Amino acid sequence: MEKIIELNKISFSYADIKAIDDISIEVGTGVFGLLGPNGAGKTTLLKIILGFLTPQSGLGRVLGFDITSSRKAVRKRIGYMPETECLIPGIDAVTFTAYLGELSGMPRQESIKRAHEVLYYVGLEESRYRNVETYSAGMQQRLKLAQALVHDPKLLLLDEPTSGMDPTGRKEMLGLIKDITRKASMNVIISSHLLPDIEHTCKKVIILNKGMVISEETIANLNQDNFNLFELKFKGNSEGFLKRLKAIRCRVESSDRGKYMVMLPADHSPGVLFKIAQEEKVQIRHFRQSRTSLEDTFMNAVEIANGN
Ligand SMILES: Nc1ncnc2c1ncn2[C@@H]1O[C@H](COP(=O)(O)OP(=O)(O)OP(=O)(O)O)[C@@H](O)[C@H]1O
Ligand SMILES: [Mg+2]
Repeated sequence: MEKIIELNKISFSYADIKAIDDISIEVGTGVFGLLGPNGAGKTTLLKIILGFLTPQSGLGRVLGFDITSSRKAVRKRIGYMPETECLIPGIDAVTFTAYLGELSGMPRQESIKRAHEVLYYVGLEESRYRNVETYSAGMQQRLKLAQALVHDPKLLLLDEPTSGMDPTGRKEMLGLIKDITRKASMNVIISSHLLPDIEHTCKKVIILNKGMVISEETIANLNQDNFNLFELKFKGNSEGFLKRLKAIRCRVESSDRGKYMVMLPADHSPGVLFKIAQEEKVQIRHFRQSRTSLEDTFMNAVEIANGN
């Protein structure tokens, strides 16, 4: 597997706020979702990948380059659509996009040509000579995407790409992202707190909470077609019980308050959980089926990580 991103025991704190807590991940080619509630550390992680922030500990490689010693090489190959505003007022969209192309190392003429192309691609061809500060929130998002694409990066980082967009704009933005991800040569990471956005665009998702990776899943695995989700509390030999659950392909997420979320493959009936409990001399104290929409699975994972 070609490794696009490899992070090994990365931690980062803003003064006394630990934003990234000992994260180790490997991301291969394709499109990945980075999903997490507000404050989970998504933007911080993207900034570490970009080399904007230097982790206090840990090692990382992006596209084969070290994230601290080869920042320039990494950035040249990354397109970044930030979550916050990044537009330069007083210039039109073509000038802005071409300027960012040049900053990424493209010759001037080529960057101007590409600016026209990408602005057309994101649907801003008619407004491309308007000053960027006159753009609506939705148009600004499109322009932010255009500037991230202008130098044809190998890796595209999109931070909350649908933020501030109305339902139509959001749908179009997700459509554009999907179109981009079909182009095999571009690898994409989409950060969002909105599960439907990730579900629509990604096959794999990394769920982040409180600066930690709480789950790495394929969307299909998280999907209700394949699993039934149960909430359990039990007393007894947890090690043996959980081992047996894993042996029948259950996915289990735990919290230190003794609540477990068990994703039972749909080809097993719930009775198997009680049977195994009996065999392992475990008493089930609480048993509740949860709805297994992807949204619930995400919420449950976050709640468990929060110890609720
Ligand atoms: N410049 C900063 N100074 C101090 N603390 C910060 C700074 N930036 C982020 N944080 C804190 O770090 C943690 C992670 O923030 P981050 O912005 O990475 O989360 P996020 O997952 O991107 O959230 P959101 O979905 O709201 O964009 C939060 O607790 C946040 O308050
Ligand atoms: Mg963020």
